[in-house]
Amino acid sequence: MIQKKRHVITISDFTKEDFEQIFQRADYLQKENVKTLTGKIIATLFFEPSTRTRLSFESAAQRLGATTLGFSDIHATSVVKGESLAHTIKMVNGYADAIVMRHPRDGAAKYASTISKIPIINGGDGANQHPSQTMLDLYAIRSHFGKIDGIKIAMIGDLKYSRVLHSLTTALRLYDAQITFIAPEELKMPQKYTRENDTQTTDLNAALNCDVIYSTRIQKERFTDLNEYNRLKDTYLITENFTNQLQPNAIILHALPIVNEIDTKVDKNPKAKYFKQANDGVYVRMALLDAILG
Ligand code: NCD
Repeated sequence: MIQKKRHVITISDFTKEDFEQIFQRADYLQKENVKTLTGKIIATLFFEPSTRTRLSFESAAQRLGATTLGFSDIHATSVVKGESLAHTIKMVNGYADAIVMRHPRDGAAKYASTISKIPIINGGDGANQHPSQTMLDLYAIRSHFGKIDGIKIAMIGDLKYSRVLHSLTTALRLYDAQITFIAPEELKMPQKYTRENDTQTTDLNAALNCDVIYSTRIQKERFTDLNEYNRLKDTYLITENFTNQLQPNAIILHALPIVNEIDTKVDKNPKAKYFKQANDGVYVRMALLDAILG
C-alpha cells in the first residue's frame, strides 16, 4: 500500500503492488466522480517549462475537489531576487498540503523533501527522474496490452538526458520486459540504467519487432554544445511508412512535447497512443494524489 503523506521522489521507491494500486484506482476514477481532496491545496512549483505535467496535476487535484496555487514561470517569483529553493519550499509548506515541483537540477526534489514537512511530488528533476510520468506510461501499456509483463519495448532518441526513460527503465526492471535502446552514440542510455540482456543499437529498424515504441525529444536545453544538438536533433524520425511496418498490435508512446521526431501524419494513425497516454495521465495523477492525501 502506498503510504499516506509520503514523498514521491524516485520511481525505485515503488513496488509492483504500489503500481497496481494506482492503476486500479485510476480505472475507478475514470468512471466515478469522487471528491476525496475537498479542502486540500496543492502547490505546483515549476522552475522549468511544462504543459502536461503541471496542467494535468492541477486538473487531477481540482477534479478531486482540491484547489491549486503555484507558479510556472520563475521570472514572476522571488527566485529571480535570489531566494533559495530551501526558503521557497519552507514558505509553501505554510500555503499548501502537498507540492508538485519541477526543477532543472538533478536531485532538487530529493533535496526539497529533506526540508518539506508536506509531501513533495517530483514532476521532473533535471535529467534524473520523472516518477509520475512513469506511472502513466505503465498505465498506457497496461491499458493497451492488458499487462506489462512480456512486452518488448524500444526506447528511441535522447536516452542520455531523458528523465522519462530513466524512470521508465527502472520501473520495467520489476516486470518481465525486454528493452531495446536506440540512440546515437552520444545520447546512449547511461550505463547505470542498462542490463546485460538489453539490446543497444543506433539502428531504428531494431524497433520493428517491438510492441511499444517509445520516442523521445532530443532535449536542446540539456546540451552544453549547441552544435552537437544541431547535429543530433534529427537522427530519428518516426514516419507513416515506418509506422506501417510495425507489429500489428504495436503502439507508439511519447511523453510529449513532440518537436520533429514523429511526423505529424502519424498522429492520426491508430498506433499513435501519445494523446491518450497524456489524457489518461490525469486519472493516474488523480490516483497518486488520492493515495497520498485522500
Ligand atoms: C517530458 C519531461 O519534461 O521530461 N515531458 C513531460 O513531462 N511530459 C519530456 C520532454 O520534455 O521532452
